[in-house]
Amino acid sequence: VKRLPITFGLLLLLALPMAAQAQGFAPAKGDDAFRYRQSTMFMMGQHVGALAAMVRGDKPFDQEVFVANAEKVQMFSTMPWDSFWVPGSDQGKHRMKPEIFKEKDQFLSNSKRLQEETAKLVLVAKTGDQGAIKKQFGAVGQACKHCHESYRAE
Ligand code: HEC
Repeated sequence: VKRLPITFGLLLLLALPMAAQAQGFAPAKGDDAFRYRQSTMFMMGQHVGALAAMVRGDKPFDQEVFVANAEKVQMFSTMPWDSFWVPGSDQGKHRMKPEIFKEKDQFLSNSKRLQEETAKLVLVAKTGDQGAIKKQFGAVGQACKHCHESYRAE
């Protein structure tokens, strides 16, 4: 496998500050914010599933498809966070733990971690190095799990 350490390092430096920026948008109505948050999480989960199938070998690895799905995950990873704070979004079958609202900084730093790991995944995917891709996909999975363990109810 051909490695491009210098180019890759530079790309990473350029990409990370942008990746951690908040999206700055949430629907104004509580029920819209509820649906928006759950939809973006659901979509993110679907595209993580597409990546997982390739990482596990259930589907043949296709770099173009992998990059395309990783870019979707990265985009969705920037979207649901503002909607947590919209009054009235705590509806129906929501699974937000009350700790989210007591530990806002901690919660948002978990969301930042996810955004950084998914931005890295896109960059690593573009190198085509399957070992590194697998490792970075694991880091994304850990970022999901870490937050769900603390802040998502059963
Ligand atoms: C910063 C915290 C955090 C991170 C990081 C996070 N989640 Fe979530 N996730 C939540 C919370 C909280 C809920 C419950 C939201 C609700 O019920 O409104 C949730 C809900 C979900 C749901 C259920 C959506 C539904 O339809 O009910 C899925 C699927 C999901 N997350 C997937 C993921 C995946 C995949 C990742 C990583 C790529 C991820 N999440 C990362 C906090 C997080």
